[in-house]
Amino acid sequence: MSDISILVLHGPNLNLLGLREPEIYGSTTLVQINQTLRLDGEGLQANVICLQSNHEGVLVDAIHDARQKYQGIIINAGAYTHTSVAIRDALTAVEIPTVEVHLSNIYSREEFRHHSYIAPVAIGQISGFGTDSYRLGMQALVNYLRKKN
Ligand code: DQA
Repeated sequence: MSDISILVLHGPNLNLLGLREPEIYGSTTLVQINQTLRLDGEGLQANVICLQSNHEGVLVDAIHDARQKYQGIIINAGAYTHTSVAIRDALTAVEIPTVEVHLSNIYSREEFRHHSYIAPVAIGQISGFGTDSYRLGMQALVNYLRKKN
């Protein structure tokens, strides 16, 4: 039985994974990433729900709606990582333990990607391991939640 529910949020342009700059983001599609995460969730006895949006407000609403429903959030906010005070404030408001993930290593890329508004309010960040960033993030989050309870 799954006693933990995890919300996986994907931000803008991640719907194009597989097509988009494969030399940076790889050839795995978002559908495949979500399938892998749901399977991993079964192994970890966690219920995994995935959502992608290109709209900041939709992501903010999803974070608000996560209250009372999810014990943890995995977020790849895409470009909003580097711009969105609103997403950071939403995460702070709901107080749901969150892991920030990125497919690429944001620190080895352009300088504007080096700053994350989300990192200071996340329990941790994993960046640079492609799909494994999500998988490692999920494992770390579930371990964190089990230790906490
Ligand atoms: C990304 C990194 C961001 O800088 C970029 O805007 C993305 C994807 C990643 O997963 O590596 O859209 O979050």
